[in-house]
Amino acid sequence: MDRFKAPAVISQRKRQKGLHSPKLSCSYEIKFSNLVIFILQRKMGRTRRMFLMELGRRKGFRVESELSDSVTHIVAENNSYLEVLDWLKGQAVGDSSRFELLDISWFTACMEAGRPVDSEIKYHLMVRQEQPQSPSLNTPELEMPAFIATKVSQYSCQRKTTLNNYNKKFTDAFEVMAENYEFKENEIFCLEFLRAASLLKSLPFSVTRMKDIQGLPCVGDQVRDIIEEIIEEGESSRVKEVLNDERYKAFKQFTSVFGVGVKTSEKWYRMGLRTVEEVKADKTLKLSKMQKAGFLYYEDLVSCVSKAEADAVSLIVKNTVCTFLPDALVTITGGFRRGKNIGHDIDFLITNPGPREDDELLHKVIDLWKKQPGVDNSTCNTSEKLEMAEVKDWKAIRVDLVITPFEQYSYALLGWTGSRQFGRDLRRYASHERKMILDNHALYDRRKRIFLKAGSEEEIFAHLGLDYVEPWERNA
Ligand code: UTP
Ligand code: MG
Repeated sequence: MDRFKAPAVISQRKRQKGLHSPKLSCSYEIKFSNLVIFILQRKMGRTRRMFLMELGRRKGFRVESELSDSVTHIVAENNSYLEVLDWLKGQAVGDSSRFELLDISWFTACMEAGRPVDSEIKYHLMVRQEQPQSPSLNTPELEMPAFIATKVSQYSCQRKTTLNNYNKKFTDAFEVMAENYEFKENEIFCLEFLRAASLLKSLPFSVTRMKDIQGLPCVGDQVRDIIEEIIEEGESSRVKEVLNDERYKAFKQFTSVFGVGVKTSEKWYRMGLRTVEEVKADKTLKLSKMQKAGFLYYEDLVSCVSKAEADAVSLIVKNTVCTFLPDALVTITGGFRRGKNIGHDIDFLITNPGPREDDELLHKVIDLWKKQPGVDNSTCNTSEKLEMAEVKDWKAIRVDLVITPFEQYSYALLGWTGSRQFGRDLRRYASHERKMILDNHALYDRRKRIFLKAGSEEEIFAHLGLDYVEPWERNA
């Protein structure tokens, strides 16, 4: 934020006129001039406010005693979001959305850190429970929200979603619902539940009451009903119904086979088949190469890939690729890059810096592996995304190899890192909010009619006008 130009030093004497403390006549150096704090006296009391203002200034923060135009952060204690909004209305400050409305816990975290800390959701003002404990200056973590009334973006690319999911019982339920709608090819409802799951994954607290979700985006009636049921009953009857549904159960089994999607499942279901064993036993079925491998290594492929396995495979892939292209860059993408320690496959992105490209690289890699014992390439193909089942010792692991031209590397890295929902929202954000088209190769500005080059993921976020989100915060 550089809405204002702050002088390097502000005379505290002028601001604190009338106070008798000798300390307050000092000038403190402003170390952090890009934010201007105003501390609300309401429900805090004058003495405490003065103490906190002084503390902030001593630590190098710019703390204003009046609500001037330059204020960027308003800090309140024991006030709800709505109470502060109400108070602001009476101050004739114009558009109050320009302020960050923060709880005292943000301020105390800054004091402890000796620098401004990110104003993450947990510090945003919430509507509190009816009997708030007066928060201690030293225990900001006790300040759990009762209800978020702050702006949470509808786009997961504007939120941070780590693997720390406080709402698993809800998000698991939504994912079952989404999957069922996917099996029914109802994309709209499927997305509705995926978006809700993604939103709840980003919350820094567990939802325990309906009030907690008030004002949040991506929570439609269907979603709300399920949340309510889970809060009240501990489980959702709708979700239970789906889990017991014959069609859902059959599709769930069929799609767990590598190479089998919704269309094939539909066909098998219509033929009266219900289980993987029944499909396996039906010798009249024509299976694709991938499906054959899927059945052959079924047990191995449904068991998760561990991080240790991913690291071991990574060495094999790197060694093989470097036999042909010594300077090639081989990066693990997908879930493992987002910090997961298990996955259903291992995703690799390969690129070769410099002008030289090697269209034949994947063929060469596969050919080399074919010559090695213990490697089954029966499902290998060399399309851009290559699916293959590799047996290492006794376990088959699915590895996806993607090769990209060097100048598209950042776009490919962003796209293949996922999560799927994060990628979806990035593309939706680009298109709806920026009139740009994003894919795994490029970003096109429709207004300027140009392709935007990017040498890093950070640059792509910057082109989109988004704050950078680290890979481990993209678990939307
Ligand atoms: P995965 O399906 O492997 O997902 O695709 P994942 O996040 O790694 O999950 P697990 O841990 O294996 O179960 C990796 C990413 O590649 C992108 C998706 O964004 C996905 O998150 N992807 C996948 C594409 O861009 N295009 C595709 O055709 C497939
Ligand atoms: Mg993966």
